[in-house]
Amino acid sequence: MSSALLIEDLVKRFAAGKPAVDGVNFDVPAGEIVVLLGPSGCGKTTTLRCVAGLEHPTGGRISIGGRVVSEPERNLLVSPRERDIGMVFQSYAVWPHMTVKQNVAYPLKHRRSSNGSGNVDTKVRETLELVGLGDYAERPVTSLSGGQMQRVALARSLVYRPQLLLLDEPLSNLDAKLRIRLRDELRRILKQTGMTGLYVTHDQAEAVVLGDRIGVMREGKLLQMAPPGEIYNRPADSFVANFTGASNVLLGKVLERKGERATIDLGQVGRIEAWTPQPLAAGDRARVALRAENIRLGERGPANSFTGRVVERRYQGMQTVYDVEFGGQKLEVLELGTAARHQDGEVALTLPPDTCWAYRDEGQSAID
Ligand SMILES: Nc1ncnc2c1ncn2[C@@H]1O[C@H](COP(=O)(O)OP(=O)(O)OP(=O)(O)O)[C@@H](O)[C@H]1O
Ligand SMILES: [Mg+2]
Repeated sequence: MSSALLIEDLVKRFAAGKPAVDGVNFDVPAGEIVVLLGPSGCGKTTTLRCVAGLEHPTGGRISIGGRVVSEPERNLLVSPRERDIGMVFQSYAVWPHMTVKQNVAYPLKHRRSSNGSGNVDTKVRETLELVGLGDYAERPVTSLSGGQMQRVALARSLVYRPQLLLLDEPLSNLDAKLRIRLRDELRRILKQTGMTGLYVTHDQAEAVVLGDRIGVMREGKLLQMAPPGEIYNRPADSFVANFTGASNVLLGKVLERKGERATIDLGQVGRIEAWTPQPLAAGDRARVALRAENIRLGERGPANSFTGRVVERRYQGMQTVYDVEFGGQKLEVLELGTAARHQDGEVALTLPPDTCWAYRDEGQSAID
């Protein structure tokens, strides 16, 4: 079976210098939602716009539903109108002079090819129900809230059942609470319709909720594409680890590596066992990434068990964050609950080996 979307060696260069998209490869099987996640300027929107046909790629090949829609080497470029895609953007692209229903019916009446049969009214009604706007059909679209307008935009892209739905930070103009609600609902809607989606965001929480797979991008390159659990527990790269929240870094030197296991010398405190996705060699400088919530305070485990010193506590509502000094380096440790379980001063500390991820230290500065 062919992928709904296949991207091979995609390159987009706007001007001399680094390409905005730099040799990106991935596919989206039918019915799957792939999220591109990365910091501002990493090339997410440019990738999406290349798929949409709004940007002309410099190199590589894009296929939608098994049909090549862009291949600059062969001078091949299919126009956006002929790609059978739907698009939802950050800004609510709705027709202000129309009602909700007219907005959603518009593409059915004006698109050259609308899939399937059935009458316009039925399709519009079903789609409005799907996005939770069943009661708003006759309202002028300008009388709606931001979240409701974004549902109209979504309904308008879903109503003609495109092969592929492209979404570029569709929730980022909404307030925090609404963003979370619509995020959860969006997943339900996309899954219910069996839609294939490519979704772009810089918000990790959104990526995790929505993505069957997440692709982490940096400076035009796709660093890792994997299911959320794998991105979170087996980051292939120190940037992926850091960007998805492994904010602790311990610096050391590789003593030994066997397959995916590495032993790292941390200096005065001793050595730690870690997992590594990289072919580290003895003597390499290493950085070990750790999530604050994976560190066990007040516990002596079978491996990677040390003593640290609590130097500060911060209550953050549902959780407590401890700053722990550990062999001249600093660790942030997070525990659920606001009870102060640990006092300032000496504390037992366990860093479970599976949650310590070692990467080659290329002297990069911390990334926030
Ligand atoms: N039309 C353009 N002309 C020149 N450079 C561009 C153009 N569009 C994007 N770029 C550059 O390409 C790079 C990638 O931009 P892009 O918009 O794809 O980033 P992004 O990952 O979507 O970021 P954000 O999270 O801020 O939306 C940036 O360095 C940007 O300045
Ligand atoms: Mg963008």
